[in-house]
Formats: sequence, C-alpha cells, structure tokens
Amino acid sequence: MSFAVAVDGPAAAGKGTIAQAIAEHFDFQYLDTGLLYRAVGLAHLHGFKNLQKVAQKLDQQSLMHPMLRTPAVSKAASEVAKIAEVRAALVNFQREFIKRSKGAVLDGRDISTVICPNADVKLYVFANQKIRAKRRQMELKNRGISVDLKKVQNDLRMRDDVDMKRVEAPLQIASDSIRLDTSTLSVKAANQQAIEIVNQKLNTKSI
Ligand code: C5P
Repeated sequence: MSFAVAVDGPAAAGKGTIAQAIAEHFDFQYLDTGLLYRAVGLAHLHGFKNLQKVAQKLDQQSLMHPMLRTPAVSKAASEVAKIAEVRAALVNFQREFIKRSKGAVLDGRDISTVICPNADVKLYVFANQKIRAKRRQMELKNRGISVDLKKVQNDLRMRDDVDMKRVEAPLQIASDSIRLDTSTLSVKAANQQAIEIVNQKLNTKSI
C-alpha cells in the first residue's frame, strides 16, 4: 500500500522545499508536478502546437531542461495549465507515480483536490505575497537571473490570479488540508512542522 502526501499552494510559498524535505526524511519519492506544466509551457514557447501530445509524451528527461525555471516558462506553464486536454494527459503520469511508490510526495496546485483526493496527508503551504516575491527573486538570482522585485511580485500576482480563477482544477484549499503559513518561518522550522504532521499520520497507519 502506498502512502501519499499532497502539498499544494501558490507559487514560491515553499512547497517544493517542504515536499523535498518530507521525501528525504521518510525516504519517499518526490514529484514536482509544476515541472510537468513547465515542460509543456516550454514546448509551447518553442512553437509546438499539439500540446496534448506533448503532455502525453513527457518523460523524466524532459523535466530536466535548464530553461524550465525561467520567468518566461513560469508564465507559459500557467497558460498551458488552463487547457483541459493538457491537464487530462498529465493525470496518469502523476497517478502512476503515486501507485508505483511505497511513499510519494507531490507538490502542485491540484494534488489534494484532483490528482489524489485520498492522499494520507494534505498540506496547503502559503505565505504573504511580498515574502514570496523576495524568495523567488533570491532563487532566480542564485540561478544567475536578475529581476526587479516589483516585476517578480507582479508576475506572482498574475500567476496566482490565473491559477486560482481558471475553470480546470483551480488552486483551492481542500476542506481536509492542513494549512502551513511559512511567512515568518525559517526553512528549517517549516520543514520540521511539515515532517511532524506527516509523522503523526504515519504513526496511525502502517505501510
Ligand atoms: O509549481 P510551479 O510554480 O513550478 O508551477 C508552474 C505552473 O504550473 C503553475 O503556475 C500552475 O499554473 C501550473 N501547475 C498546475 N498544477 C499543478 C502544478 C503546476 O496547474 N499541479
């Protein structure tokens, strides 16, 4: 039987860091589902027209492209993520990932609501927008990409808006999600809180 942890939330809230810390701590498999949409978004920027086909053919290799974390691809990912056929094509990839893992941690926008509504643990990770913008700016700087803070904040605001208001699988807080506000938490403290939540659940369920 597999144990699934769903980590959802807006961009740059700390989902990925927390999801990776959980995976590492419990020796679970980790999938950053944003990379799936980013890979389709990159194909779109490269002029591919049949994005459903691109989504169906994604493999681990396509999730390692160095351009995937750039601001242009973030925006493109959010645009292609509105397309029902693209989302449908990516459902299997994500569910199969969960099925073949003894323990799986997935982070994204619709993991708790669409991909794995029966997840053993559901976390909704968030932080205030200014803090998220500062974190994203720092992350981009560390990758050698320099962007003005106002622009980063504006991009985040627009992406939040698209992700929360789209018709297909919008970002929502599942009724049974545990909320984790990382605004004032250090990375270590946020990771510890998340690990403790998973630990409590694991203690009530043997895998
Ligand atoms: O998580 P990340 O910021 O890398 O995701 C990039 C974009 O992919 C998001 O803004 C969102 O539009 C889309 N996405 C999604 N569903 C997911 C993961 C990401 O719609 N599960």
